[in-house]
Amino acid sequence: MGSIYRELLLPEDTASASVKEHEAEFLYGLVKEQGLRRSLETGFANGASAVHILSAQQGLKGARHIVIDPFQERYADVGLRNVRRLGLSRGMRFEPHYSHEVLPRLQREGERIDFAFIDGGHRFDEAFVDFYYIDLMLVHGGFVVIHDVKLRPVATLASWIRRDKSNYRRVGNVPRNMLMVQKTGPDTRPWWHYRSFGTMKGLLTHSLHVWRSRTRLSTTRRDNPEA
Ligand SMILES: C[S@@+](CC[C@H](N)C(=O)[O-])C[C@H]1O[C@@H](n2cnc3c(N)ncnc32)[C@H](O)[C@@H]1O
Repeated sequence: MGSIYRELLLPEDTASASVKEHEAEFLYGLVKEQGLRRSLETGFANGASAVHILSAQQGLKGARHIVIDPFQERYADVGLRNVRRLGLSRGMRFEPHYSHEVLPRLQREGERIDFAFIDGGHRFDEAFVDFYYIDLMLVHGGFVVIHDVKLRPVATLASWIRRDKSNYRRVGNVPRNMLMVQKTGPDTRPWWHYRSFGTMKGLLTHSLHVWRSRTRLSTTRRDNPEA
């Protein structure tokens, strides 16, 4: 592929919120190779991940990508502008609301998906709720990629999936800051099922992020309506 990444408008003050070029290209390759037609993502920002997913879906019959983010105005609509500039608007459905509002609605409406990319709210409860509803809509054989697994709350979600969700298998050979899993079948855990999922992963990286967030305006703060 030609590098779509370099064609993106990425303002200096918000560029760090975007997936990196090699991560964007990984998403492109995955969607293209697997022919993932029905997809969604939480966390739009400047649209770096979205344009790569949308672009990989070009030419796939019936393809559509649902994008969920309540804070596009904080990015001066750059995500929407990037999608428009690259001529990819047709395949996208934009939901400008919190994922905890949109995902249960989609699930109630009977939505089915082949692929989801989780990169919205990064607190444990936000990322967990994203995965919970995505799991209910994901077809058997479908994939989920979670971004920022170096961050402690997201590393904890990754650890829960790996230990507790026996109907998912980890897929290797992915960028270091991502976890990719594939749904292998129905959830057959008994009602009493529980496995501890605490992890030491991300301990250092997280402390670094907390320190950085406290010393300058970070995306964590920008994404927090209470800040
Ligand atoms: C790390 S950025 C996403 C980057 C994007 N995937 C990219 O590659 O350009 C996180 C995004 O999550 C959004 N966000 C924060 N809380 C959210 C929530 N509860 N539901 C959906 N999106 C949320 C923020 O507005 C922000 O745009």
